[in-house]
Amino acid sequence: EETKSWKKMVNIAVSGAAGMIANHLLFKLAAGEVLGPDQPIALKLLGSERSLQALEGVAMELEDSLFPLLREVKIGINPYELFEDAEWALLIGAKPRGPGMERAGLLDINGQIFAEQGKALNAVASRNVKVIVVGNPCNTNIPAKNFHALTRLDENRAKCQLALKAGVFYDKVSNMTIWGNHSTTQVPDFLNARINGLPVKEVIKDHKWLEEGFTETIQKRGGLLIKKWGRSSAASTSVSIVDAMKSLVTPTPEGDWFSSGVYTNGNPYGIAEDIVFSMPCRSKGDGDYELVKDVIFDDYLRKRIAKTEQELLAEKKCVAHLTGEGIAFCD
Ligand code: LMR
Repeated sequence: EETKSWKKMVNIAVSGAAGMIANHLLFKLAAGEVLGPDQPIALKLLGSERSLQALEGVAMELEDSLFPLLREVKIGINPYELFEDAEWALLIGAKPRGPGMERAGLLDINGQIFAEQGKALNAVASRNVKVIVVGNPCNTNIPAKNFHALTRLDENRAKCQLALKAGVFYDKVSNMTIWGNHSTTQVPDFLNARINGLPVKEVIKDHKWLEEGFTETIQKRGGLLIKKWGRSSAASTSVSIVDAMKSLVTPTPEGDWFSSGVYTNGNPYGIAEDIVFSMPCRSKGDGDYELVKDVIFDDYLRKRIAKTEQELLAEKKCVAHLTGEGIAFCD
């Protein structure tokens, strides 16, 4: 008999559920690491025809783990069934980059996948659904306030590299913004970031390293990992999805913020509207976010932001035929 009073069950839909990222993530979700120890969940796992058998294996392992919070596991290949009443949709299922590939090469194929899943969400998911797009290229897919393109992995990478350089533990690094695209044009913002509450540039005097070495390390980290592993990052990606979800369901600590790729309409930074762009966000913990207003810019930051903005605008044109905004030709 239940002595504890449980919250109402939450449906979490996960695409690409038979893949490496999901294999880490699902067990964290089921263990209550994200939504807390009193929040029962149902996992709705979307795979493809090809991965269906592996997905059965995933469901077996979830069952065998006897997670007290995991009340239902459903698997399948039809997003219209799996996304029903979803309150979270974690869109991981997409073609990943292999060694030597650029993200732009995935725009068309993954754009089609996300366009299809967007339609399914629109048809059957909770109106309040929060969507985190993880697959590459993770921006320019479906513009709306509830959609997030994951740049938390980049934020975490940036915090780690700054901490290593400054010789501090990474919890001392705060206010870390990733601007723009989850690509090699992304801008890890060392102008606004802080170490022990001080501007990074006061703590790390090697500004050339910040502009070049640091920035490039973050921009190219995903590619480097692919070279090392022969496949794209999975464990750290799943950790960053957990971080991104937690940031929306817990109040952001005073004075700090987190990065997420969100819809630009109404942004206070002068970034083009109608795209999804990573920017600094704060949350009251209600699942929503607001953009941070008190950030500063210098020439370097402005120029870099303009470059990643150009890239996203170009990518948007390339997927226009998928979003019903007309045909564009892209190289
Ligand atoms: C990453 O950043 O590690 C992933 O997005 C994989 C990739 O293609 O870089």
